[in-house]
Amino acid sequence: MNSRVKSESKYKAKISGTGRYLPEKIVNNYDFEKKIDTTDEWIRTRTGIFERRYAADNQATSDMAFEACLNALESAHMSSKDIDMIIVGTVTPDHPFPSTACILQKKLAIKGFGAFDISAGCPGWIYASDIARQYIENGSAENVMVVGADILTKITNFDDRGTCVLFGDAAGAVIMSRAERKDISLVIDSEIVADGSYYDILVQPAGGSRMPASEETVRKNLHTIYMEGNKVFKLAVKSMETACESVMQRNGFDIKSIDWLITHQANLRIIESLGNKLKVDPHKVIINIEKYANTSAATIPVALDEAVRDGKIRRGDVVLMSSFGAGLTSGSLLIRY
Ligand code: ACO
Repeated sequence: MNSRVKSESKYKAKISGTGRYLPEKIVNNYDFEKKIDTTDEWIRTRTGIFERRYAADNQATSDMAFEACLNALESAHMSSKDIDMIIVGTVTPDHPFPSTACILQKKLAIKGFGAFDISAGCPGWIYASDIARQYIENGSAENVMVVGADILTKITNFDDRGTCVLFGDAAGAVIMSRAERKDISLVIDSEIVADGSYYDILVQPAGGSRMPASEETVRKNLHTIYMEGNKVFKLAVKSMETACESVMQRNGFDIKSIDWLITHQANLRIIESLGNKLKVDPHKVIINIEKYANTSAATIPVALDEAVRDGKIRRGDVVLMSSFGAGLTSGSLLIRY
């Protein structure tokens, strides 16, 4: 039961810059037709995906995140020295430890403040934003680099047609800053939720303390994503609907006051089903799944950055974002951009 109430904060937060990075290599549905028992038609109609980007063999999550951060710093007219916290949402860190956020801190040539990763599946960036918001609102941080970055293709079982067609790689970065009184931009509210009773329907079984790496785990492909897709599907729509309604209700917004809805890009049918439940005008729903597939924690910051740079989302627009994923986790973020 989530009993979060809205309390008055010392400061307000806003989004001051956005950035993204997509690797160059494009893999389309026809490339899968040549390798596994699938068709472009099945993938398109069941998921909405046509193509996706793959990181290079020598690229790690921090490499992609670094490019997205540079992009965000440029858009915020800031230098890395202005950043005083880094939070990275990822399930594919460069290493089990240290955190990707610390590696990113080194790449950005900054130090002396908190940098850490959040493991919350696809809503990793929403979770990271929820934490960043509170650090800014209580006055402990002024400019937080909030990153969502994943290379799921390095933990994908390419023999499993039920999962391997779904994922792509990407990084998104957003700078969340302390707002001044004159700012129209505002992070209005956010919410994070988890239901651990479903932890085992979407899991990377091996490589942790439960099942350390061994010859057997490698042979059995246990370091790759295991997902019971149709169970996740059913829970996805309900959890995002609840998370969206909760932040809207708590802040006196109804669906007509939302200019843009950005949901996790896991399956076009999930996005459309959520849109129908919320009764949102389909023209207000940002969709890029056909180009990038499910990029895990990167989907929302990438879609936000793309919509801002394309001139769809403008300063003052109200944007509702929501995601769900491994945990099972879900969350929402309501902003005036
Ligand atoms: N090509 C052709 N046929 C396929 C493929 C494929 N790539 N994949 C599965 N099928 C087949 C199945 O084998 C099955 O065949 P059968 O009826 O002969 O047994 C049939 O298609 C139907 O399979 P379902 O799994 O029931 O298909 P469904 O319509 O549920 O679609 C999908 C599967 C796309 C995975 C869907 O369930 C889904 O999108 N789930 C949610 C995924 C998600 O959102 N994950 C969370 C985020 S991921 C993360 O956090 C890392």
